[in-house]
Amino acid sequence: MALRLRKRTHRISKPKTRKRSVELSFRCVGGYENVKQEIRDAILLPMQHPELYKRLNIRAPKGILLWGPPGVGKTLFARTIAAECGASFYHMKSADIMSEWFGVSERRIKQLFQKANRSKPGIIFFDELENLAPNRQAVAIEDGRSSILSSLLTEIDGFEPLNQVTILGATNIPNKLDPALLRPGRFDKLLYIPPPNREERKEILRIHLAGKPLDLIDIEALSERTHLFTGADLEFLVNTATTLWLKKFVEDKKEKFCMKYFEQALLHIRPTLKQEDIRYYEYLRSTHERSVNSRSRLEYSPTYYG
Ligand SMILES: Nc1ncnc2c1ncn2[C@@H]1O[C@H](COP(=O)(O)OP(=O)(O)OP(=O)(O)O)[C@@H](O)[C@H]1O
Ligand SMILES: [Mg+2]
Repeated sequence: MALRLRKRTHRISKPKTRKRSVELSFRCVGGYENVKQEIRDAILLPMQHPELYKRLNIRAPKGILLWGPPGVGKTLFARTIAAECGASFYHMKSADIMSEWFGVSERRIKQLFQKANRSKPGIIFFDELENLAPNRQAVAIEDGRSSILSSLLTEIDGFEPLNQVTILGATNIPNKLDPALLRPGRFDKLLYIPPPNREERKEILRIHLAGKPLDLIDIEALSERTHLFTGADLEFLVNTATTLWLKKFVEDKKEKFCMKYFEQALLHIRPTLKQEDIRYYEYLRSTHERSVNSRSRLEYSPTYYG
């Protein structure tokens, strides 16, 4: 009995895979056209035309790191990328991999890569990567994570690009990651996802307002009023305002969904980010310029957060 229990603790939990979903696509992500284009070039193109890459001897990025403040849609992006490629999706958080048992985390990583290789095309997504692979100088050796990082690096290095499996990572704090992960040939491409600008807020609002009566809703005005709001904040705002209206509507069916409910919601909802957070992210961005294209730098200069 004791042996059985022990075995169960060691069993590798099945990664969460999702096959192509009809509902999920880049259309579910409001704005960020430049990021979508970068992803198309870096992931979809090599997955769809590996023979061209081979013939022209071009190396496709092995890993892509999505980074930016909380709530800007990094996880949402990862899910839609898998759906866009029709790929199996392995969404891994540190808790899915880390184990207190000696050697188990390392084995999980190995098995994950093997499994993804068998069910191509696939996307392995390491969410909140800083928990799994923190800078080795900042964590104690006995912490165990440096050996997890070594296994991860070994798997990534032994991994052939263009084999229809892409590694994605997401983090809020790229400078907490071990620098070995970020060198070319591993996470080749760093894509910064900033808080949405006004136009993007409008698109995100439209997505979350879909299906609601919009005759009296001024999306333009809402996007003006929501400076510094992230996608997650906007979703929360729409949800709160709609719930406030719904409560009135069940009492009186003549009650219309209008801006008053957003005014009420905005009295209580503050953006998650503050101006100093944005400044910090702009600073981080200047130190992680390598793969951030010049287009996105221009589009998201600090003056754009209006
Ligand atoms: N660009 C967007 N378009 C539409 N919805 C968005 C967008 N960005 C965020 N959202 C909404 O916010 C929710 C939370 O976003 P998500 O979990 O992807 O953020 P995140 O960047 O991964 O945050 P964290 O760093 O905290 O993990 C999404 O499920 C979605 O409903
Ligand atoms: Mg996330």
